[in-house]
Amino acid sequence: MTLDIENIRIDNVKENIEKLNEEFKVMSSKDILNWAFKTFGERIVLASSLGLEDQVLTDLSVKLFSKVRVFVLDTGRLHQKTYDVLEESMEKYHIKYEILFPKLEDVQALEEEHGPNPFYKSLELRHRCCRIRKVEPLRRVLSRYDAWITGLRRAQSVTRTEVKKLEWDDVNNIIKLNPLSDWTDKEVEDYIYENDTPYNKLFDEGFTSIGCAPCTRPTKVGEHPRAGRWWWENPEKRECGLHESH
Ligand code: ADX
Ligand code: SF4
Repeated sequence: MTLDIENIRIDNVKENIEKLNEEFKVMSSKDILNWAFKTFGERIVLASSLGLEDQVLTDLSVKLFSKVRVFVLDTGRLHQKTYDVLEESMEKYHIKYEILFPKLEDVQALEEEHGPNPFYKSLELRHRCCRIRKVEPLRRVLSRYDAWITGLRRAQSVTRTEVKKLEWDDVNNIIKLNPLSDWTDKEVEDYIYENDTPYNKLFDEGFTSIGCAPCTRPTKVGEHPRAGRWWWENPEKRECGLHESH
């Protein structure tokens, strides 16, 4: 029996992930997002780091569904220019961004025990900082939704070559949609340019992937775009735990 993707119920999405991915192979990212909003409505949320992919997704989403939910994990350590693009996007899109902060007592304990820059001291402390500032707030926000949208792309990293459009996130028990999983760097940049989408001005200064300020540096010509993220670690280790699976 063929799958009626237009009328699928939220409860049935998980068991049909493979079939839906087959359908998505011939659909544009815009049509996939449209399907997602029709199916999940306000039960789906877009995770935005204000990076280029997330700005593409925000622009596409606002045009499709004015009630789109978007959240930002404000780690407290973001670049000023990241806050600037958040401000600009709030003004342009008139959507309410949900801003998630880490738990005060956890950040205080980390800083009191290990100082303000624990991430450079060991991989364990770097992971602890990411857990406190990103992963725990992510768990908190996702517990209120049935699905989330991310800007993950296969081309981004050796750790992301298997990313599919639709996945089951078994850590957060939630459907995960990656509408841009097969987009190239150029497709992302072209979209931003052609649609006059607000973007982080650090991209004009040699940054090619942007996270927290102390853990991101610009890349040199010929370096991998994510080489500036946790640059002192091995490429296989350069994830912060937002996109883990069991
Ligand atoms: S990370 O895991 O290395 O930090 P990356 O910066 O590549 O992730 O972003 C991948 C996707 O994770 C983004 O497109 C976005 O959906 C989500 N994401 C990353 N950082 C944040 C953040 N601070 N707030 C909300 N979503 C985020
Ligand atoms: Fe902490 Fe760096 Fe992780 Fe940000 S990216 S949460 S500053 S370790």
